[in-house]
Amino acid sequence: MAPLKAFFPVLLASLAACRQCTNLTIPVDISSRQGLFKEVPVETNLDVRAFTTRFNEYQANLTATLLQGYQTLKGSYEISAQYCHPDNGSNGIIQLLSHGIGFDKTYWDLNYNNFNYSYVNNALENGYSTLAIDRLGIGNSSHGDPFNEIQSQAEIEALNAVTTKLRSGAIGQIGSYKKVIHVGHSFGSVQSYWLSALYPNNTDGVILTGYSTASQFLAYFAAGANFHSARLNQPLRFGNVSISGLQQFAAKYNVSMDLVPALQQLVEKAGLDLSAQDVWNLVGSTEVGNLITGFNKTAPPLNYPSGYFANSDLTSDQYLFLFPGNYDVGLAVVGEQTKQPVTTGELLTIGSAPMMSPFTGPALVITGEHDVPFCGGNCYGQVPNITAPNIPAGVKTAFPAASAFEAYIQPDTGHGLALHYNATAGFQVIQDFLANNGLAAQ
Ligand SMILES: *[C@@H]1O[C@H](CO)[C@@H](O)[C@H](O)[C@H]1NC(C)=O
Ligand SMILES: *[C@@H]1O[C@H](CO)[C@@H](O)[C@H](O)[C@H]1NC(C)=O
Ligand SMILES: *[C@@H]1O[C@H](CO)[C@@H](O)[C@H](O)[C@H]1NC(C)=O
Ligand SMILES: *[C@@H]1O[C@H](CO)[C@@H](O)[C@H](O)[C@H]1NC(C)=O
Ligand SMILES: *[C@@H]1O[C@H](CO)[C@@H](O)[C@H](O)[C@H]1NC(C)=O
Ligand SMILES: *[C@@H]1O[C@H](CO)[C@@H](O)[C@H](O)[C@H]1NC(C)=O
Ligand SMILES: *[C@@H]1O[C@H](CO)[C@@H](O)[C@H](O)[C@H]1NC(C)=O
Ligand SMILES: *[C@@H]1O[C@H](CO)[C@@H](O)[C@H](O)[C@H]1NC(C)=O
Ligand SMILES: *[C@@H]1O[C@H](CO)[C@@H](O)[C@H](O)[C@H]1NC(C)=O
Ligand SMILES: *[C@@H]1O[C@H](CO)[C@@H](O)[C@H](O)[C@H]1NC(C)=O
Ligand SMILES: *[C@@H]1O[C@H](CO)[C@@H](O)[C@H](O)[C@H]1NC(C)=O
Repeated sequence: MAPLKAFFPVLLASLAACRQCTNLTIPVDISSRQGLFKEVPVETNLDVRAFTTRFNEYQANLTATLLQGYQTLKGSYEISAQYCHPDNGSNGIIQLLSHGIGFDKTYWDLNYNNFNYSYVNNALENGYSTLAIDRLGIGNSSHGDPFNEIQSQAEIEALNAVTTKLRSGAIGQIGSYKKVIHVGHSFGSVQSYWLSALYPNNTDGVILTGYSTASQFLAYFAAGANFHSARLNQPLRFGNVSISGLQQFAAKYNVSMDLVPALQQLVEKAGLDLSAQDVWNLVGSTEVGNLITGFNKTAPPLNYPSGYFANSDLTSDQYLFLFPGNYDVGLAVVGEQTKQPVTTGELLTIGSAPMMSPFTGPALVITGEHDVPFCGGNCYGQVPNITAPNIPAGVKTAFPAASAFEAYIQPDTGHGLALHYNATAGFQVIQDFLANNGLAAQ
């Protein structure tokens, strides 16, 4: 038998041939009816942990405590997106992909190991086009006030606006699509579901990955993330500290840029002029994760304001997203290098979705067996008031009018479905569900 390796060039060539991708920015105008929250301090990491403590308080409701009233947010924003289509067309069907907390649009198209974890490639191979967006507020999409601007509702309005533009062909580089399937991961699933409840006619299929309607495990997520202020946690990437600023500082104080001696010298010189706020943020916060895991030195810093929180490190990433033993640590390091934050406003509104969706098309829930935030680590467990055979199956009651509903548990997998070995087989469950329920692309 010929070694398997001999076939790889052929496989890769056919993949490359059917993969046409471009990055683009989509302007959207939105009007969002949403909460007006009292802002609380979130400057330091102790402030951030205090916020989480209150957020997780048993039988308390921080959303209700901070809610002062409602507002209509109106604004023009930019949504950063990656559009891909198969060479031979897609029969007018596109999958609109919304990432979860901790990620950006690259979650769907991980380039690790020659893209063999890429959801986008799997969808393209099955004949679909894809549009993966950075959710409003995150990554290269417009950022905003973390309490009173970047909330679930505003993001759903942005997602709906992008959907409408896709249907009408109003996005320059993209033709019009007759059918739009909303695919989410985690908070992106919450928003895809929510869109189907508010605008049922604007979606043709709903795929909710890493999702359930059990809300009691959200506290595991908020605690397990060990949230820190994003701009302090990765100051060189999330903050506005610049490499050249750091180099100037090192030159001024004769500090070697070699990590260990640099830190030793900075500690010795603790009496230094701390007006160099960049260095205070970098060293005073003791967060040196992005020096250790590495980051893209030429990408401009994201400059998130205080009120954007990040999972603290690789250990929290594992707890939230990865089932030990069934993932590649090298990929987890990439996840830490490229992670993205969550806003206070998102956390305060994550649980405000309607209880039911009048959507009449097909809906699939697919969740990893050991998902922590939506199943408490065991999707086969039982929770109060969900009488389904397992936790994801309980979502059925939220879709009373769906033409088809299925809940699928992906084995040996945590919350971050795309980051596990065997992810591709899970992706195929999604494409097969669509094909079997009137949404085949070919
Ligand atoms: C598009 O952006 C991604 C990051 O999201 C990057 O990896 C890729 O190289 C970009 N592609 C093009 C064609 O610029
Ligand atoms: C918390 O309060 C908000 C705002 O009043 C409300 O919409 C939400 O349903 C409450 N959550 C729970 C779990 O009671
Ligand atoms: C389009 O290309 C894909 C991948 O090469 C292939 O599987 C599919 O059958 C093609 N579809 C059509 C309609 O030719
Ligand atoms: C969706 O379309 C149906 C049929 O055209 C219509 O009756 C219904 O009011 C629409 N729903 C919404 C929320 O627009
Ligand atoms: C960097 O961010 C801090 C905190 O938000 C802000 O006070 C400062 O003006 C910013 N500096 C630049 C150059 O953007
Ligand atoms: C800077 O470091 C170099 C090399 O260690 C040393 O020779 C020089 O004396 C130092 N200068 C000052 C001002 O400390
Ligand atoms: C790093 O950032 C630069 C500038 O934005 C970009 O052109 C480049 O593709 C990035 N490199 C990687 C490996 O993502
Ligand atoms: C965001 O933009 C920067 C700078 O252009 C680029 O390096 C990076 O790859 C982009 N990231 C995403 C997720 O689009
Ligand atoms: C279960 O449902 C009952 C009746 O609707 C409600 O009173 C109770 O609070 C629910 N329990 C939980 C844990 O949600
Ligand atoms: C990607 O390739 C690696 C190495 O061949 C393999 O171990 C892993 O299971 C693959 N991942 C996926 C999602 O297929
Ligand atoms: C991989 O995933 C597929 C689809 O869920 C499943 O049928 C198969 O049993 C999984 N394989 C392993 C080894 O878990």
